Amino acid sequence: MARFSDEWIEQVKSSVDIVEVVGRRVELKQSGQNYVGLCPFHSEKTPSFSVNPERQFYHCFGCQTGGNVINFIMETEHLSFPEAVTKLAEEQGIPVPAVSAQEQQKEARREQLRKANELAARYFYRNLRLPTGEEARAYLQNRGIDDALARDFYLGYASPNWDGLVQFLESEGFDLQIAQAAGLISQGKRGYIDRFRGRIMFPICDHLGRFLGFGGRSTRQGQPKYLNTGQTEVFNKSYILYGLNWSKDEIKARDQVVIVEGYTDLISLFAAGTRNVVASLGTAFTPAHGKLLKRFCNSAIIAFDGDSAGQKATLRGMEILHEADLQVRVAALSDGQDPDSYARAFGETKVKEWLESARPFREYQIDRIISQHDVETREGKLRASTELVTLLAGLSSSLERDEYTGYAAQRLGVLERSLTEEVREKLGIDRAKPVHNTRNANLAPVEAGEELREREIIRWLLQKPSHLKDIQAYGITANDFRHPDYHRVYVSLTENGSDPEGTAIASRLLSLPGPMPSWEDCLRSFSLVLTRRRLQKIEEKLSLLENDRRGFDIRMGLYQLLKEYYDVFISQT
Ligand code: UTP
Ligand code: MN
Repeated sequence: MARFSDEWIEQVKSSVDIVEVVGRRVELKQSGQNYVGLCPFHSEKTPSFSVNPERQFYHCFGCQTGGNVINFIMETEHLSFPEAVTKLAEEQGIPVPAVSAQEQQKEARREQLRKANELAARYFYRNLRLPTGEEARAYLQNRGIDDALARDFYLGYASPNWDGLVQFLESEGFDLQIAQAAGLISQGKRGYIDRFRGRIMFPICDHLGRFLGFGGRSTRQGQPKYLNTGQTEVFNKSYILYGLNWSKDEIKARDQVVIVEGYTDLISLFAAGTRNVVASLGTAFTPAHGKLLKRFCNSAIIAFDGDSAGQKATLRGMEILHEADLQVRVAALSDGQDPDSYARAFGETKVKEWLESARPFREYQIDRIISQHDVETREGKLRASTELVTLLAGLSSSLERDEYTGYAAQRLGVLERSLTEEVREKLGIDRAKPVHNTRNANLAPVEAGEELREREIIRWLLQKPSHLKDIQAYGITANDFRHPDYHRVYVSLTENGSDPEGTAIASRLLSLPGPMPSWEDCLRSFSLVLTRRRLQKIEEKLSLLENDRRGFDIRMGLYQLLKEYYDVFISQT
């Protein structure tokens, strides 16, 4: 939906000075051609945030964020691109291009549907507080939702009669066709009838607090337990998260969202002092939900029901949130428990502890695999380990892979070394494929610098096995050879036993033509490669930790890593 032309966007951008806009939020000092200040996107004590007036760009050397003035507004005010440009344009008095007549009409219609929902919400709200709401009030009381809480969430009641809402809307002179389009009433044999009857009504809003629809909980054993507004021009469950209008500020402030399944889960968590919550309306979590949340925060805790449906939803949800680039943790509950019952049974302190104990979703995946097999038996253990190896080998970052291989080994009760071996083997098999295809072309024709260094070492070792001592003196092990072929040859060189495949690779390597650098040079180059890898790993860990805010342990971890980093660094220079 390209609403704005590039020229217009350029006009808006060039009408403002990024130094001035950023300066409203960040105290900037001139430094050479740039301006510097404390980064508003991460906490720091020495300024690494800089604004370049000439290129109209900002950049933070600490957290690597950056962009133009529109990006800055989007980031700091959590707006979408069109919202941010519009805001800037309005501030500058630049007329915002009118939307097409058709688009205007659609928007006017959506506004009417929202109006219908708002009127209905008022009607339901009043009902709950009238004598007709007696039974509903008792029901809520019984569930631990007192008057104040019911008021906070604008809860209401749809009485059991057939046309209470229809009559109310008529008395307000409201167009019943609109109310029908909003999913509030439907056409019966003898005129319009209410869609929601005998239900506690939970109004559902968008993040701006506009009324879009309802969830209705039957106060008796009536089926279905919950009746929700169906799909309408304003209500699409795939885009809406219940409660976001009430929780968004807290979500921003804590940079974290807790996601639950049900309305009552959210309300009970609020009552227990946790206010950064949204509910997914019991439907599958969608990428649109992920994207919406990412506008407000960077980390999510999934707190779904403990039953098997809840567990399945958790597995799907975490992948989607991970895809949306949120850090994902899971706060598990035992079967039969949901956040609502937990919060009411155990109270504020326990709820906080439970959420703090949420585990990284990879751990949750691993635990789940293990719980699905009887790992007390040899067969069960093997099957679980096969699944775990597949999961671990699929992780794209080697840091994550190492980390969770250790965790999985410990949970499964096997040696970390053996699991690591299997993961490597799996990776080796997968990665070796293209190499084998080019077998006739003298191994892989193009090799990255690191692989070339590995190859030189292996070729030397094949020619002069006595060099193995030097290698071992450097502390180099099989795992330092990442190319599956060289890894294999190295293993067969250091271990007894025959490996036909390894021998075949070795003989190809031996027959390669061309001069090679001296052994000393090869060794030096290879150890530089290894150092670089170590530094990279430490950097990865550092950046993981920097994004973590768990306090003291983390700071100690950071300190250790920095020390290690400089030790390695100094040993090189
Ligand atoms: P639950 O059945 O877990 O809801 O479904 P709940 O909140 O725990 O129910 P009670 O009131 O405590 O017994 C979670 C969510 O799934 C949706 C609703 O959004 C509900 O909050 N749902 C559930 C439906 O839409 N229809 C249903 O029939 C059931
Ligand atoms: Mn429940």
